[in-house]
Amino acid sequence: MLNIPEAIYKHYLRLKSEINQHNHTYYVLDDPSVPDSQYDRLMRELQEIEQQYSQLCTPDSPSQRVGGVALDSFSQVKHEVPMLSLDNAFSDQDMLDFDRRIKDRINVAPSEHLSYACEPKLDGVAVSLIYQKGLLIRGATRGDGTVGEDITANVRTIKSIPLQLHGDDHPELLEVRGEIYMPRAGFDKFNRKARKLGEKPFVNPRNAAAGSLRQLDSKITATRPLEMCAYSVGQYQSSHKPDSHFAMLNLLGKLGFKINQHMKQVAGIDACEDYYQHLARQRDQLDYDIDGIVFKVNDFKLQERLGFVAKAPRWAIARKFPAQEEMTRLLDVEFQVGRTGAITPVARLEPVFVGGVTVGNATLHNADEINRLGVCVGDTVIVRRAGDVIPQIVKAVLEKRPQDAVPIVFPERCPVCQSSVKRIEGEAVARCTGGLFCGAQTKEAIKHFASRKAVSYTHLTLP
Ligand code: IVH
Repeated sequence: MLNIPEAIYKHYLRLKSEINQHNHTYYVLDDPSVPDSQYDRLMRELQEIEQQYSQLCTPDSPSQRVGGVALDSFSQVKHEVPMLSLDNAFSDQDMLDFDRRIKDRINVAPSEHLSYACEPKLDGVAVSLIYQKGLLIRGATRGDGTVGEDITANVRTIKSIPLQLHGDDHPELLEVRGEIYMPRAGFDKFNRKARKLGEKPFVNPRNAAAGSLRQLDSKITATRPLEMCAYSVGQYQSSHKPDSHFAMLNLLGKLGFKINQHMKQVAGIDACEDYYQHLARQRDQLDYDIDGIVFKVNDFKLQERLGFVAKAPRWAIARKFPAQEEMTRLLDVEFQVGRTGAITPVARLEPVFVGGVTVGNATLHNADEINRLGVCVGDTVIVRRAGDVIPQIVKAVLEKRPQDAVPIVFPERCPVCQSSVKRIEGEAVARCTGGLFCGAQTKEAIKHFASRKAVSYTHLTLP
């Protein structure tokens, strides 16, 4: 092992801290501070120094975010502080009952307004991260709440998770709990690519996050667009502890974690209801899936007095949103012809209320997707609608398949002009070969042309 000259060591530490800072602004604050090219240059410089002085290549180096050697299996780890789940509320009445139960228990007058912390309930995978003397030493899944799996190598690849806590004044021991999730944009991009390559897409962002974390090869996890948002602490050893949940989340933000931008502290259960309604209206515009709102008694002393029942705390509740996945029946499949001749199978469904709207159609994408789903006309199917994304069929419920279910046959001739349908090798899309002879293609081409700003502009400025 070579001795490191002091000047190089100092330069190395500066590089490391600069890269960590850029990771934080980019992945935690969503506010890139340097162009990618400069980030890459800093990283290359860091790696060159680590190649020469291998003792610098420690697990907290930003160069280690790419993943390491594949494991044979995940080892089991015990949670010193159990990872609990939450009771659910499905109505305003459930929320009023929750508030009343708490007040009864701590002898507070019904008219008093308790302080509640409100946060979106992220739909991902719960994780526990342990930091000793500021360094990330373990990442684990929830498992059954007492024993989980060690996924340290995988969590290290997630750039919004600090490998080292920020600042000098951090707890001796800190266990951060939070949700690892795949933002919608990353999920859609991943699935588009998978479908194009004829590979299996993920059913929903939660499964995508879970599947990506279950990889024994952390190099695969490193390629998945995962993020982590902190929402509580487990073990905590420090000379000082914030006195409320909200203050604790702010501290986690200062220590380098992503915390939810929509979190808020409010006074009283009516304000919780307002928050729920407000977020329900924003749900579609968020760039990640949420399945409800979590309300927590803010004051840690009150939390302690309230304690737990079975596996859930008395001081918190999850108010659920309407489901984004529902069951319905596939009535028919129509094949639509687009501007470039691409033929898209569209499922006609028995209308169902899902993700806040009534859905009657869903895309089936292409022939590969129909084959992969193995879905038949007449089947009961699970439909998913999240955000502004077109509703999708997630799967057929095979146990409910009727005897007269009809397999879907992809047409060999265009349903509009009868020209032959061709599929180019390696492409997922099948196309009508009719060109402008095809009424559907002509119609779509004119629509497309007329919709362009250039045309309207030319038209308006003609003498
Ligand atoms: S608090 C004791 N806060 O929901 C408190 N959980 O059924 C435990 N979740 O497994 C959790 N967003 O993975 C909490 N802001 C949030 C959350 C959240 C998502 C998940 C968590 C947990 C499940 C509870």
